[in-house]
Amino acid sequence: MTRTVYVNGQYLPEHEATVSIFDRGFLMSDGVYEVTSVLDGKLIDFDGHCVRLSRSLSELEMAAPCSNETLLEIHRELVRLNDITDGMIYLQVTRGNPGDRDFAYPAEDTPPTLVLFTQSKPGLADAPVAKVGWKVISVPDVRWGRRDIKTTQLLYPSMAKMMAKKVGADDAWLVEDGMVTEGTSNNAYIVKGKRIITRALSTDILHGITRAAVLRFAAEAQFEVEERNFTIAEAQDADEAFITSATAFVMPVVEIDGTALGTGKPGSVTARMRELYLDEMRKAAI
Ligand code: PDD
Repeated sequence: MTRTVYVNGQYLPEHEATVSIFDRGFLMSDGVYEVTSVLDGKLIDFDGHCVRLSRSLSELEMAAPCSNETLLEIHRELVRLNDITDGMIYLQVTRGNPGDRDFAYPAEDTPPTLVLFTQSKPGLADAPVAKVGWKVISVPDVRWGRRDIKTTQLLYPSMAKMMAKKVGADDAWLVEDGMVTEGTSNNAYIVKGKRIITRALSTDILHGITRAAVLRFAAEAQFEVEERNFTIAEAQDADEAFITSATAFVMPVVEIDGTALGTGKPGSVTARMRELYLDEMRKAAI
C-alpha cells in the first residue's frame, strides 16, 4: 500500500509529494515539528501537541498554517487513508518558499509550508525493548540555546544518536555544565526510592508533552516529584532511570556510560509509570 501524505492542502501518494528547493525548512532548518502517537487508531495527547506547536510558531514569529480543528481533521484523515492502528504522525511547518535564499525572513504573506506523514508501527506500545530497557552514554550538549522550541535543527541529536549506536548503546544523554539536560529526543529522569527527579523546564530542554502527563500521573499516584538538575554520577547511583517521549512513552534506562543501575533491569517505579501513562492516555485518546 502506497503511503498517502499531506502537503499544503493536498493528500498525495508519497512519491508525488514535493516541496520547493527554496523552502526555508530545506535551506535554513527554519521549521518546527510535532510527533503525535497513534494507538488503536486514536491520537494520543493531540491537544498538548497543538499547544506546543502554537508556542514554537509564536516564539519564531511564524504564521500558523491553519486552525487546530483543521490539523485534527488532517491527522484523522491520514490515519484513515493509511489504515494506521499504531504508529506516529509527523507534522512539520516551515516559513515557506520565498523563491530565493536570503537570511532575512520573507514577506509576511509568504504562505507557510505544512507537511504531514504517517509512520506505521504495529504494536508500538508493546515494544519488546521496554522490558529490557535502554543503555545510554553521556555526550556534551552543544545544541543551540532555545531547545524549548521544537525546531527541525536535529543534526547534533542525530550525531549523538550515532555516537551511542557506535558503542552499542541505545541513546545519549546530553550534559551541559556537568548536568544532564535531556536525551537526544526525549526527557531524562532518575528514581530514588519513591522520588522521581527530572530537570525543571527552561530554555535548556524541550517541554515534553509526555513529561507533563507523566509528572501529573506520578503526583496523583503519590510519587514525589522533584524538578531539579542531576549529574551523570548521581544518575549512575540512582535506583532506576527512564526517558519519556511521544514515541517511546516511558522507557526504562538500565545502564549509563557502562554502569548498570540498581539490579540492571527495568525498575518497578518505571514499569508503574509506563503502565499508568499508557492506560490513561489510551482512555483520553481522540
Ligand atoms: N522528540 N526532548 C527532545 C529533544 C525531543 O526531541 C523530544 C521529542 C522530547 C520529548 O517530547 P514529547 O514527550 O513531547 O515527545 C524531549 C520527538 C518524539 C522526535 O523528535 O521524534
